[in-house]
Amino acid sequence: MSETITTPDLFAKFDDIISMREQLLASGVEDPFSLVMEKVLSPTRAICNGRDTILLGTYNYMGMTFDPDIIAAGQQALADFGSGTTGSRVLNGTYQGHKECEDALREFYDMDHAMVFSTGYQANLGIISTIAGKGDYVVLDIDSHASIWDGCAMGNAEIVPFKHNDVAAMEKRLKRIPEGAGKLVVLEGVYSMLGDIAPLAEMVKIAKDNGAMVLVDEAHSMGFIGEHGRGVVEDAGVMDDVDFIIGTFSKSVGTVGGFCVSNHPKFEIMRLVCRPYVFTASLPPSVVATAATSIRKLMQAGEKRAHLWDNSKRLHGGLTDLGFDLGTDKPQSAIVAVIMPDLQRGAAMWEALLSEGLYVNLARPPATPANMTLLRCSLCAEHTAEEVETILGIFERAGKATKII
Ligand SMILES: Cc1ncc(COP(=O)(O)O)c(C=O)c1O
Repeated sequence: MSETITTPDLFAKFDDIISMREQLLASGVEDPFSLVMEKVLSPTRAICNGRDTILLGTYNYMGMTFDPDIIAAGQQALADFGSGTTGSRVLNGTYQGHKECEDALREFYDMDHAMVFSTGYQANLGIISTIAGKGDYVVLDIDSHASIWDGCAMGNAEIVPFKHNDVAAMEKRLKRIPEGAGKLVVLEGVYSMLGDIAPLAEMVKIAKDNGAMVLVDEAHSMGFIGEHGRGVVEDAGVMDDVDFIIGTFSKSVGTVGGFCVSNHPKFEIMRLVCRPYVFTASLPPSVVATAATSIRKLMQAGEKRAHLWDNSKRLHGGLTDLGFDLGTDKPQSAIVAVIMPDLQRGAAMWEALLSEGLYVNLARPPATPANMTLLRCSLCAEHTAEEVETILGIFERAGKATKII
């Protein structure tokens, strides 16, 4: 008699998340994670479910996606260089446009070196895993983005997390690291779930005093925060003390791609040793052309930055007055997170907003800190003051209908 062989189901580990999703959909709400934008009208409006919808849940902070100069640059590059490079940056995948994009980044940050990756995820994955290897230590905020955690895991360094934005906890962890070990402190300028910023002036000083290199991910602040839009590092006056800035083109720049800028004299070697840079195809010529044009325009975007701050203050103040519980006491970035009592009611509120013509992001554990369910609003420099008032009206009606306020 032959033995019956049982095949363990490799999907069993997803059962909890499958049942959470089934429970949510059984309550009759629309699936918040499969919305389709049928037509995109502008950086702030799209047709969703056949309805003209205000977008308050994109990362298009500076509203660059429909800029005519950016679109023209992309179209020209597509016509001149074709649809893709079909190769790695270190072989056949570096075109003139990639060099020009890196030039634009060097100028934007006023730094010596810039390296463009295919996504921001790969920039964190590559830089962190390559510079912090076995025997080194990475000290990082517990609320760090998945790409930072994945970079740590890939590099095999010792991982030392500390409580979110807790300066004393960070210092304590740093001081415990054995003498002589390589140390990298990884921070984010803006933490995207709650929209709060890191106390970079204190943290960077402590990191330096304790012999650590510092990497700051400025994904959610590039283009907006700081006099020249260089991020929280600029605003906190620590540009010269930071060793690496990581960023993305998928937010304020308005396309896709990632980068790292640095003044480290040996930085260029990363092009040969960083696997997520070497072993993947480079960005299409049209994408680097749009990114370079957008980055150059962001250098001159002081008025847009000022308007985006006005929008953030107006929305934060209005939602507070309506009685919503927000992720920060004061507006600190272009993200205003509205805390929901639980996933069920958060999803109901999300749906009520959408049916009134407003799209926001629903965020839930494990992506959120402290198991929170959040409605994350991200503002755009192209939202008008009137649009923000309309948004507040929609929040008031939906909040009352779902009994959240
Ligand atoms: C803090 C942070 N870093 C990195 C990334 C990755 O960026 P990209 O979309 O370019 O992969 C994100 C994207 O959400 C992010 O929020």
